[in-house]
Amino acid sequence: MKEARVGHAPTTLVVVGAGGHGRELIDVVEAVNAVCPTYELLGVLDDNEPDPDRLRRRGVRHLGPVRLLAEIDAAYVIGVGAPAVRRAVDSMATNWRRRAATLVHPRAVIGRDVLLGPGSVVCALASITTNVRTGRHVHLNIGATVAHDCQLGNYVTLSPGAHVSGTVTLEDDVTIGTGATVIQGLTVGIGTTVGAGAAVVRSLPAGVVAVGVPARPRAAVIAQQNPADS
Ligand SMILES: CC(C)(COP(=O)(O)OP(=O)(O)OC[C@H]1O[C@@H](n2cnc3c(N)ncnc32)[C@H](O)[C@@H]1OP(=O)(O)O)[C@@H](O)C(=O)NCCC(=O)NCCS
Repeated sequence: MKEARVGHAPTTLVVVGAGGHGRELIDVVEAVNAVCPTYELLGVLDDNEPDPDRLRRRGVRHLGPVRLLAEIDAAYVIGVGAPAVRRAVDSMATNWRRRAATLVHPRAVIGRDVLLGPGSVVCALASITTNVRTGRHVHLNIGATVAHDCQLGNYVTLSPGAHVSGTVTLEDDVTIGTGATVIQGLTVGIGTTVGAGAAVVRSLPAGVVAVGVPARPRAAVIAQQNPADS
């Protein structure tokens, strides 16, 4: 085992969520530690019983339900894709005075003047260019990209291979699906989900699900396909 940074004890850490995304976050923790021992991963917290084989093969313990974070003196990251769940867990953890860790995979590329909010996670092969701000617990999955001057609100999720062009604003709780793109200068409103493979070429309002090329709120797609219903 590599020694911890001189003068720095490793930060104790728990991952909230033991599903697929939670276990992917463990990859990020392990990759960070391989470069510089930074975290002592105590285990995962999940209200559901995680698949024991998958965790055992990772050498990671299920510590119990999420409420145990009130008693465990550790930083946390939230390995759940859904923004609303991350928001709820973050609210509880903040009440319990726990500190969110910010994770950047060593194979991610981050440019100058990028500020990541507490709890944010940047996975392998993701990249952020320059002058970008993110809110709390923003997740960039593998291969997602964010270009210059973007503002990402709290709990935003970029799924694998999503691409956000320059000067885009993604408001709180936005999800951009796998392989979707957003062209420059647009705003995606609070809580909107952009479906996998969509191309966003006009700003989107809050609270819609938008799919397709070009992306349109799904109700509009359905109306187009069934004009008799509209
Ligand atoms: C857009 C999305 C949120 C819709 O989910 P949903 O409400 O469960 O939608 P359904 O699967 O019930 O599909 C409803 C209709 O929308 C269509 N649809 C669903 N997703 C679509 C997409 N991404 N692009 C185009 N059409 C889509 C379906 O074909 C279906 O059409 P039909 O009624 O003519 O058969 C989802 O399909 C999606 O793309 N999510 C992103 C997933 C992702 O990126 N995950 C990353 C995990 S790491």
